[in-house]
Amino acid sequence: TMRREVKKLVATVPDASSRKAFDKEMKSFLALHDRYLTERSRHRELDWNQIDIPSKEQIIPYDNLPQVWDTKVLHKLAVLKFNGGLGTSMGMSGAKSALEVKDGQSFLDLTVRQVEQFNIAHCVDVPLLLMTSFNTHEDSLRITKKYANSRLRIITFNQSRYPRILEDTMLPLPQSADDDNKAWYPPGHGDIYYALAQSGVLDQLLKEGKEYLFISNSDNVGATVDLPILQHMADSQADFIMEVTNKTKADIKGGTLIDYDNSLRLLEIAQVPAEHVEDFKSVSMFRIFNTNNLWINLKALKRVLANGGMELDIIVNPKVTGDGQSVIQLETAAGAAIKHFDNALAINVPRTRFLPVKSCSDLLLLRSDLYTLRNGQLVANTARMFETMPVITLGDKFKKIEDFQKRFKNIPSLLELDHLSVAGDVYFGRNVTLKGTVIIVANDGQRINIPDGSTLENRLITGNFTV
Ligand code: UTP
Repeated sequence: TMRREVKKLVATVPDASSRKAFDKEMKSFLALHDRYLTERSRHRELDWNQIDIPSKEQIIPYDNLPQVWDTKVLHKLAVLKFNGGLGTSMGMSGAKSALEVKDGQSFLDLTVRQVEQFNIAHCVDVPLLLMTSFNTHEDSLRITKKYANSRLRIITFNQSRYPRILEDTMLPLPQSADDDNKAWYPPGHGDIYYALAQSGVLDQLLKEGKEYLFISNSDNVGATVDLPILQHMADSQADFIMEVTNKTKADIKGGTLIDYDNSLRLLEIAQVPAEHVEDFKSVSMFRIFNTNNLWINLKALKRVLANGGMELDIIVNPKVTGDGQSVIQLETAAGAAIKHFDNALAINVPRTRFLPVKSCSDLLLLRSDLYTLRNGQLVANTARMFETMPVITLGDKFKKIEDFQKRFKNIPSLLELDHLSVAGDVYFGRNVTLKGTVIIVANDGQRINIPDGSTLENRLITGNFTV
């Protein structure tokens, strides 16, 4: 029945050549959907007793990497950002990479600056690739247009667009190929391998002599080109490298690596049987998690794709549409590809290489005096006396970017902050300084204004506030 419905969708495309392209896309969707049905009927679950924690040899400490590199390797590098996601969880309507991170610069601006600087510093021509989705393509082109005259080559290509599936009927939500954007979804960053091949970008890179592809999330501002890792990739002839980092209690949801059937595999929380979810979250059992900074040997990728393709574990993502319909999306994750490469390894990198912006609390840290920008890189302020960054929890009233901007006249000084917790209707004045542990709670119907110029040190503030 899914097949029949999809066929109907294909028939709605009037023009023959677009119909052919759409048909191809739907065939790959159907293949994913078929695989989903078979796996579901076989109850193919992970055998928890077969899971081993990866050995020391499989996860290399970052400090063991080479400190000298051969410039020949740099010429073989290309950099790619996953750029298909929207910033909906932060209340944005467009591409998340267009969000201003610091000093008027968006994620994309920072990446462009970084790669440009890298090229200048090393006299190389490393191209920047952006994988966009139908949701973000235009936004991305608008932003990259302003770099048309820079010396950086930017290559943009689109990932797939699949129909959302209605949960109760298991049939496609869209009624025609040109149905509203809300009826479709981009099938996760695991789509990268298909999209690279399909767009011709993979062959183009290989033809140019590129061999190493560094991939990361566009919202991870810590994901910069790293020469020790690149050199290690060349030296060890690894086909696939995943950067992992030590888990803290805040990272319990991130995917981890396991040794399964004698190969490294990515284990996502969605794949964990219910009775083992607590084990999965524990920091003592699974010590590391995937940063989604991945290094891929393009020749090996070409080989894997030619030898029967790249089936990735399916992640079923349930969603509710704007008008309240329950749908599911069949998605895949890029890191799951690790199981297809014989020569794969993981590197345990410092936390600074994983600096994602998932919420306005993350944004507050980055915009504050805890960080400065240098050549598109966020550098931690050495004036901070403590090893760790403060823990910040902003309440629901700060969830959307627009509200966040409204509630801070400017960003407070956080240099000596350990912990900040804000709940309720709170507004911060200009030039506020926060130190130690600060907790501010406005109860329902109350509003707290932190006056301009105030310094709060180890304070609990509720109710009426005067300095
Ligand atoms: P996610 O939304 O998957 O972030 O986007 P996450 O919750 O941190 O998930 P994991 O743990 O990485 O899986 C991560 C990056 O992937 C891009 C987003 O734009 C973001 O940069 N992305 C996501 C795509 O490019 N395409 C997609 O279909 C989904």
